[in-house]
Amino acid sequence: DAPDPCIMVIFGASGDLTKRLLIPSLFNLYCDNLLPDAFAILGMAMDDFSTESFRDRMSEDVRNYSRQDQFDDHAWSVFCDKIHYMQGRFDDAEAFARLKTFLQALDGRYDAGGNILFYMATPPAVFSMISTGLEAVGMNEEHDYWRRIIVEKPFGSDLDSARQLNRQILTYWKESQVYRIDHYLGKETVQNLLAFRFANGMFEPLWNRTHIDHIQITATEQVGVEWRGGYYDKSGVVRDMIQNHLFQMMAYLCMEPPVSFESEAIRNEKFKLLSAVRIMEPEEVRENAVRGQYGEGVKQDGSPAKPYRQEHLVHPDSNTETYAAVKLRIDNWRWHGVPVFLRSGKGLRTKSTEIVVQFRRAPEFTFRGTPAAGQLEANQLIFRIQPNEGIELRFLAKRPGPSMHMRKVNMNFEYDEAFVTHPGTGYETMLYDCMRGDASLFSRSDLVETSWQIVQPILDVWKSEKARDFPNYPFGSWGPKAAFDLPAAAHRRWLARS
Ligand code: BG6
Repeated sequence: DAPDPCIMVIFGASGDLTKRLLIPSLFNLYCDNLLPDAFAILGMAMDDFSTESFRDRMSEDVRNYSRQDQFDDHAWSVFCDKIHYMQGRFDDAEAFARLKTFLQALDGRYDAGGNILFYMATPPAVFSMISTGLEAVGMNEEHDYWRRIIVEKPFGSDLDSARQLNRQILTYWKESQVYRIDHYLGKETVQNLLAFRFANGMFEPLWNRTHIDHIQITATEQVGVEWRGGYYDKSGVVRDMIQNHLFQMMAYLCMEPPVSFESEAIRNEKFKLLSAVRIMEPEEVRENAVRGQYGEGVKQDGSPAKPYRQEHLVHPDSNTETYAAVKLRIDNWRWHGVPVFLRSGKGLRTKSTEIVVQFRRAPEFTFRGTPAAGQLEANQLIFRIQPNEGIELRFLAKRPGPSMHMRKVNMNFEYDEAFVTHPGTGYETMLYDCMRGDASLFSRSDLVETSWQIVQPILDVWKSEKARDFPNYPFGSWGPKAAFDLPAAAHRRWLARS
């Protein structure tokens, strides 16, 4: 379906997200003919721009952030005419009255049918202020047109604050109007997990505790916290990556087949999966969760890297984790007894996101008494989410020669070889889907809360017990030693190359 005519309002339009991601994504959609003809953008923020100066600012940056090699100046000048700006404060009722008038005028001019998409490119602290402002002038109400809001993470900082945020948002909006972004769901390779599992008949019969030994999901980053110390020091990697991005990938990988490709059918299955994850007791947290914080070390370019505690806006005695590894259990029939290991961190050796599904080993008796016995390693299926996007199947093959020696070999699928891929920001599909009213790639309030429920005991134990060994891994290394002991205690080891 083509997206509906609409106007997109960006709150906080003068910020980084708008110029780096939103405008470039919308422009990429425009160039691919995926925007409705009747479409306009209205940026609103406190900063003093006119529509003209705002367009100039967007024009300066768009070349750097959209598809650079094919920048089309003519297309940009047509697209740019659709961008408007309005100055206003979010705590000012009069500004929302002006916004309404402005939107009515734009609606008449662009023939957008009354549909409006509100994008909160603002800190969560002002979500409820904006909601209240919109409600006061009736802009949350739907009739023969729709009104939708897109909310960026973080959705709360723990279970209580997430519940409160959901309550606030749902006071004025119906769940069906709320689109919560998790940018990992915008990644082609993450979406492909569903295609791989449910469009192919070959793997599904093996996708269970009878055949799978364990699962690993790894998302590592080379960079440190950079300029985001103020936010990150209150957050840490469990809140920043695991509770959202890693759990979304785990849900796609482990959920039951949905009854259809409708958003509610998919999200229901994700919810069921997350609800089956065992909530740890404090003792179990100590056993199954490892935290780390980077100390000084060496960056990729060979220059020295500061320890986390000396980063800008980070407390000099910070207890915040920049690395975590966790072992989870899923208490359902499919996954009973199959551990899921998750890990993520900053200041590490490589930037890579990978999922490894390790199958059970073949029984050895066939090769008893040959050199092959004892070499039988388990098969692995590896989803390379980024970089070098692809899927790899590792299995044993006989080495040429007179004896029965085995070696691990790969069957490899590379995105770049199989498809012509268009570089994008990763936000295009999500914005496109939202304009079509398809919420599959967005999180739902119950999913968000269940995810917080899973990590809450970890957050509680780590808050109450100071990490005495921080920093416990050098910047640019593979992470803390204890993270390697975690699978080892379960007679497994990390397999991803990160
Ligand atoms: C964001 C986190 O959600 O994801 C960042 O806030 C992190 O800290 C980023 O760097 C990682 O995203 P990607 O797409 O680069 O893996």
